[in-house]
Amino acid sequence: MADLKLTDVAKTYGGTVDVLKNINLDIKQGELIVFVGPSGCGKSTLLRMIAGLEKITGGTLEIDGQVVNDIPPAQRGIAMVFQSYALYPHMTVRDNMSFALKLAKKSKAEIDEAVSRAAKILQLEDYLDRLPKALSGGQRQRVAIGRSIVRDPKVYLFDEPLSNLDAALRVATRIEIAQLKESMPESTMIYVTHDQVEAMTLASRIVVLANKGIAQVGSPLELYERPKNEFVAQFIGSPSMNLLPGEIVETGEQTTIKLAGGGMAVSAVPTQEADKGLKVNVGARPEDMVETDGDFVFEGKVDIIEALGEVTLLYFEKDGDADPVIGKLPGIHGDLRGKTVRLTVAPEKVQVFHNGTSLYYR
Ligand SMILES: Nc1ncnc2c1ncn2[C@@H]1O[C@H](COP(=O)(O)OP(=O)(O)OP(=O)(O)O)[C@@H](O)[C@H]1O
Ligand SMILES: [Mg+2]
Repeated sequence: MADLKLTDVAKTYGGTVDVLKNINLDIKQGELIVFVGPSGCGKSTLLRMIAGLEKITGGTLEIDGQVVNDIPPAQRGIAMVFQSYALYPHMTVRDNMSFALKLAKKSKAEIDEAVSRAAKILQLEDYLDRLPKALSGGQRQRVAIGRSIVRDPKVYLFDEPLSNLDAALRVATRIEIAQLKESMPESTMIYVTHDQVEAMTLASRIVVLANKGIAQVGSPLELYERPKNEFVAQFIGSPSMNLLPGEIVETGEQTTIKLAGGGMAVSAVPTQEADKGLKVNVGARPEDMVETDGDFVFEGKVDIIEALGEVTLLYFEKDGDADPVIGKLPGIHGDLRGKTVRLTVAPEKVQVFHNGTSLYYR
C-alpha cells in the first residue's frame, strides 16, 4: 500500500501541445482522491501517467519514495479500472478474475485464494461460473474491479467506472465502491468522475483540475464552503454559485458590499481598511438564498420556474449577457413566476472574490 508524490508533473503531446503543467500533489496511503474538472482538462491523462500508460514529459512521480517515471506499468503495483470494463466474453467470471494471476504464473492455490477473497468483497460468489453476458452492467463492473483486487495492488485507479451504468445502478454501485474502500482502509485510490455526487460522497480529498493545473485541492466540504477561486466556486455545487458584481463599502471583521444590482451583502470574510472601494464578485449559492422582506442581496423578477418537488429553482430575468441568477427554495413555489422576489444570504455563506480569487485565502 502506498503514498504517491507528484512534483511539477507536466504533459506535453508531440512536443507542442501542453495538457498539464506544474502538478504538485501528495497522496497519502489510504486516501481516496477524486479528480474532477471539465471535459478535456487532463484527468485521464494524469491517471494514465500515474499508471505508466502515458509518458510523463516533465517532473517526477514517486511511489513510496521511489521515482517511477521510467518504471513500466506492470512493475508499479497499480491496477486501473476503466469506464468500458472490457471483460473477456468467452471466459467465466472466475477466469476473468484469474487471468492476470495466471499470466504472472501464480500457483493454483494462490489464485483460488485471491479470487475467493475478491468475490467475497464484491459479493460475486454466486456468479463465479457465469459468462459476462449473463451479468447485469453493475455486476460486470464489479468483475472488472475484482480483476484489479486479485492483484492486490498498491494503488487503485478508476477512470469514470460508473459512467456506463444507468442512474439507479450508479447509485447502488457508488455505495458498493464506498463499502469496498471501507473494507480496504489501507488501499490508496484515485478516482476520476464527472459526477458531483460521486465526488462529494466518495472523496477524502477532491482535486479540481482546470487550465492545465490544479485549481484547488481539499475535502469535499472545504471546496463547497470555501472555494479558493471563482472556477471552483462554480464547478462544485449544482446549480452553480451565483456571482454578483459589487464594491466593498465597509471593511473590518465583516465586510459589506454594495452590489451593482442594488442589493447589499454582508460577508463574514474579514477585510482591511485599504480594501474599501475594491471591485469584487459576491458568491452566493442558490440553496443559501432565502426570501426576505427586508434588506436584500438580490432582487429580481422570476423568469422561469423549475419545480423539482423537493425544491423549486427560480431563474431570474437576465441582466444583459450575464448568466441568470438562480435561487433554490425548499418546497413548491409555482406561484412565483413573473413575481419580483427579494433574497438574502447569511454572512457566513457569502463568498467574496477579487480578480477571480477568494479574499478568504489572502
Ligand atoms: N495522443 C494525444 N495527442 C494530443 N493530444 C491529446 C492526446 N490524448 C489526449 N490529448 C488531449 O489532452 C487533453 C486531455 O485529455 P484527457 O483525455 O486527459 O481529458 P479528460 O479530462 O479525461 O476529459 P474527459 O472528461 O472528456 O474524459 C485533451 O485536450 C485531449 O484532446
Ligand atoms: Mg477522461
